[in-house]
Amino acid sequence: MLEEANNLIKKMEETMNKDDRINTNCEMKVGVDLGTSHIVITVLDKENNPICGEMYRASAVKDGIVVDYLNAVDIVSKLKNKIEKRLGTELKYAATAIPPGISEGNIKVMKNVVEGASFEVNNIVDEPTAAAHILGIRDGAIVDIGGGTTGISILKNGNVIYTADEPTGGTHLSLVLAGYHRISFEEAENLKRKNEKHHEILPIVKPVLEKVGSIINQCIKGHNVDIIYLVGGTCCLQGCEKIIEKYTGIKCVKPENPLLVTPMGIAMDSQL
Ligand SMILES: Nc1ncnc2c1ncn2[C@@H]1O[C@H](COP(=O)(O)OP(=O)(O)OP(=O)(O)O)[C@@H](O)[C@H]1O
Ligand SMILES: [Mg+2]
Repeated sequence: MLEEANNLIKKMEETMNKDDRINTNCEMKVGVDLGTSHIVITVLDKENNPICGEMYRASAVKDGIVVDYLNAVDIVSKLKNKIEKRLGTELKYAATAIPPGISEGNIKVMKNVVEGASFEVNNIVDEPTAAAHILGIRDGAIVDIGGGTTGISILKNGNVIYTADEPTGGTHLSLVLAGYHRISFEEAENLKRKNEKHHEILPIVKPVLEKVGSIINQCIKGHNVDIIYLVGGTCCLQGCEKIIEKYTGIKCVKPENPLLVTPMGIAMDSQL
């Protein structure tokens, strides 16, 4: 399951944040993900094969609300310039994404950030729906546990029939970890990203993951969901899928690198 998506994600992983020159003259699809924890630009070819990408740890956007406009524009511009240097060509168009339920005003600000970095925005998609596209799935629930929020979208026969975004995510896991070890939030963030520490971290953050499980249960009530696809950086935490599976009683699957799914899905939805 997810073999094709895993291959695409792996290819993107191999080419992310590098400096080598890429020779290509194909049409390109660009996605800009303005996340709470990361700002990511991904570039795919017309057939959705990864070309390259850039990811930067940032806190200029919070749950779909731009809290530091100038910094956000600056980061997107720098990532864009770096990619353009690698490709030897200018990127003109990009798709971007919003968490479900964001107000019109905030959508406009997100769009302005991408335009401020000299892109023309050719699509604005909702995040969990973008994730569903790269996973190539038509039925089930996609749960994107990012930095600030958990985005959920339910698909039936390829159609999105429900979306929601709830304020629990990786930040809350880090806060619990910081309290437990009496360390700063930043130290907890760094500790949490050490994969070799995950077996120690999992029992400490279990209540937060169960809270995510209860959010999922509320959202999928009455929708007959029999599979949950877990994406978003927080799902990098090894074993989180078992806790959520036990809490919800529904089979959970996750791609090998859940962090890159939504950013790649956004590029896939870029309209040529
Ligand atoms: N290896 C890892 N192990 C555990 N957690 C990780 C790992 N890498 C990243 N994370 C966590 O993933 C979260 C960020 O995920 P992601 O990049 O999907 O969020 P975002 O898109 O920036 O935020 P949002 O979608 O909520 O706006 C952070 O809380 C970060 O600590
Ligand atoms: Mg996200």
